[in-house]
Amino acid sequence: MNVLLIGSGGREHALAWSLSASPVLTKLYCAPGNPGIEAVAECVPILASDAEALIAFAKDRKIGFAVIGPEAPLVAGLADRFEAAGIWALGPSARGAILEGSKGFVKDLCRDFHIPTGNYRRFKEPACAKTFADALGQPVVIKADGLAAGKGVIIAETAAEAHKAIDSMFEGAFGAAGAEVVVEEYLDGEEASFFALTDGEHVLPLAGAQDHKRVFDGDKGPNTGGMGAYSPAPVLTDSVIEKIVSRILKPTVAAMTERGRPYMGVLFAGLMIKDGEPKLIEYNCRFGDPETQVLMLRLKSDLLTALLAARNKVLDRIDLRWSDDPALTVVMASKGYPGDYGKGSEIRGLEEAARLPDVQVFHAGTARKDGKIVASGGRVLNVTATGKTVRQALQRAYAAVDLIDWPQGFCRRDIGWRAIAREL
Ligand code: AMP
Ligand code: GLY
Repeated sequence: MNVLLIGSGGREHALAWSLSASPVLTKLYCAPGNPGIEAVAECVPILASDAEALIAFAKDRKIGFAVIGPEAPLVAGLADRFEAAGIWALGPSARGAILEGSKGFVKDLCRDFHIPTGNYRRFKEPACAKTFADALGQPVVIKADGLAAGKGVIIAETAAEAHKAIDSMFEGAFGAAGAEVVVEEYLDGEEASFFALTDGEHVLPLAGAQDHKRVFDGDKGPNTGGMGAYSPAPVLTDSVIEKIVSRILKPTVAAMTERGRPYMGVLFAGLMIKDGEPKLIEYNCRFGDPETQVLMLRLKSDLLTALLAARNKVLDRIDLRWSDDPALTVVMASKGYPGDYGKGSEIRGLEEAARLPDVQVFHAGTARKDGKIVASGGRVLNVTATGKTVRQALQRAYAAVDLIDWPQGFCRRDIGWRAIAREL
């Protein structure tokens, strides 16, 4: 079968790396891909937002299955477009992708179906939103309802900050995403992510991970898309995972079907765990980035077979095997990220780094220029390794980082600190 993977980040490089090893694959294409992905797939210069060109290409190359990486095309209905063209697609319909596209929708669903999450209310104007935020006390969480590229969440430490956040959202700081605002209770505990595949009826648990959202060591500085991750997440014990699946994921999938929004694809739950009790923070309708990079290193079964089973509603026939060895990824980013950063600086030493045992270097924001690899984004490389312990995976990943010669880049040096503290 010919497969078209859509996206261009480190998540897609990891997915392409895994899909390319599938015994059921004939040829893998990636649109638009990146120079790292070129090693395992044929990259085609079509943007994820260009549905028409993607479908024309897919028909021309007899693509049997499209795997959609990022959330924006899913929320915009790209899976529906492929299916309407007679091409199977992995990922929810636009009606299903509302699980990521509207934070208020998810909160209402949790309320109606008794899925554990924090207290909240939805608002269309600032005055009542401020009154409710004051009533919740501080810290309090203010969110733009719609997609805001991961930036539409403000954790306000004072009432004044909460009011300012509410005003700025209604004044358009996040565009149309902030036309509605969700004010919610701040959940205390340890944060983790859990991934599952669902076909709308069955839920196949994948694995858990923890990422590091803040840009600097010690979890300081502004939030980012993620500066590193590791899997498994020690806070997700078997008992916690059982609760996540039975109290959160399965009821959500059943609720979506009941609401006439059957959900198929990856369900990525952002969770807060306190005293062994998980609560939902939010859903994403796709694989995580950089969590996928560590998940793919631990997956021992065929990814493509599992994704096809989700599309074809036979997920109950799939049993995935995972390595118990932890995997860890360090994000190398352009200096200045998540603010302004330069582009075009050359990156050397990639081959030396990739030659280290149990190391994979995934490209996230690179381009090829005059035969050289240059930085072209904020998050640029995901240096990923496995080991018998998180500490060993970490040592291997940083040994590879240290072989990469890129003065214009930086990374956190403390990825995995929570898990390593537990190993001591
Ligand atoms: P999100 O974009 O919804 O993932 O939110 C970004 C980050 O804000 C999350 O990963 C959490 O660290 C934090 N966050 C969001 N909502 C809450 C909440 N209700 N309580 C505590 N932290 C939260
Ligand atoms: N790393 C968080 C995300 O993919 O949304």
